Amino acid sequence: MTTPIEGFSKLTKDEKIDWLVTNYTQDQESAKKLLKRYWNTDTVVQKLHDEFIENTISNYYLPLGIAPNFLINDTLYAIPMAIEESSVVAAASKAAKFWLNRGGFKTTILGTEKIGQVHFIFKGDVEKLNNFFAQVKPKLISDTSAITKNMNKRGGGISNIILLDKTSKLENYYQLHCTFETLDAMGANFINSCIEQFATTFKEEAQNHNVFSEIEKDIEIVMSILSNYVPNCLVRAEVSCPVSELSTDVEKSNAFAKKMIQAVNIAKVEPHRAVTHNKGIMNGVDAVILATGNDFRAVEAGVHAYAARNESYTSLTDASIENGVFKFWIELPLALGTVGGLTSLHPLVKLALEILNKPSAKELMQIVAVAGLAQNFAAVRSLVTTGIQQGHMKMHLMNILNQLGATTEEKTTLTNHFKNNAATHSAVVAAFENLRKE
Ligand code: MEV
Repeated sequence: MTTPIEGFSKLTKDEKIDWLVTNYTQDQESAKKLLKRYWNTDTVVQKLHDEFIENTISNYYLPLGIAPNFLINDTLYAIPMAIEESSVVAAASKAAKFWLNRGGFKTTILGTEKIGQVHFIFKGDVEKLNNFFAQVKPKLISDTSAITKNMNKRGGGISNIILLDKTSKLENYYQLHCTFETLDAMGANFINSCIEQFATTFKEEAQNHNVFSEIEKDIEIVMSILSNYVPNCLVRAEVSCPVSELSTDVEKSNAFAKKMIQAVNIAKVEPHRAVTHNKGIMNGVDAVILATGNDFRAVEAGVHAYAARNESYTSLTDASIENGVFKFWIELPLALGTVGGLTSLHPLVKLALEILNKPSAKELMQIVAVAGLAQNFAAVRSLVTTGIQQGHMKMHLMNILNQLGATTEEKTTLTNHFKNNAATHSAVVAAFENLRKE
């Protein structure tokens, strides 16, 4: 039985690996070799990765793919996507090509407001608290001047602070709800620094506020933290074309448009379907978020909260047919950054941003929303036409063949074979074994 370890973080990388493989692996030499095989031979790059997190022992690679031909607001983009799931990049590329000759994607920024909150407990007269807040608000802002100076110079900063009475939800619970404009930065550090200062000032000033009773003076700050729910940091992306242009065959076009609407309507009213529908959207969103060094967990959390904003979890995309025009759109809350954080540290992230023509945060929001919309269009299109497995299995076939250790020649033979045969896992294994026997 393994015993707990003290001071693991203080060990060198090699010592950490030794301890790990000794205590948790069967074949220690192989495990060590494997971990080291994924070290970068460029020591500068490896050092960077070592320092991104704590206790780094190796690197975990994801493929970086490119989905070209995205026409967004009349500019052509090749979108970098970091993702392990086969078919996603292919689907994005297919959707991009489909809309390329149908006007491309149009996007609009609907808002860029970020949020931070100071959660606190106040036991006393709410009227007195309201008056105190009105009095102290200018000082809350002036006390953060050292933090906000540069952001203010660039045109961002604190937008507002309001006091919210949350006592109907939780006894004595109040909140300073603070809004920010963080320009091209995602803003987490900026927001958290500001609200921690708000909390300090708020507590100190309360202690000196003579109108408060002793109990009222004793405001308890529970926590100060940004919110990843950013419903007013919102982007819209849209595609549209006459129904008749959806395919070369008029009947097929009409049927396809109607089925797309039905599929979206189902995702709008049925949470089980909505979750999978939105998962497909996030295939595109997360892949671009990762490639551009943004925080996909933050985006995931915020996007799903947005999908549930009207009590029932629903589709993030919508579709309509009006006056013979098919329209398909998405609205996504996205708090992204194109400066700071990993964006200036990770060499591949820097390259991804260069490929995207060094976008502002607003431009990146638009590109990401387009990736999500394209992914959803491609997924729902195959679901309502051929079904998802046909395309999926083609890509999956290559993964199975790689797992089996097929040679290039064997891959070509078997890819041809499975053009006309269902590429289930067992069928691929059987065909591979037969080929080897031959
Ligand atoms: C698979 O990763 C994503 C899909 O399930 C999305 C969808 O069903 O819309 C294909």
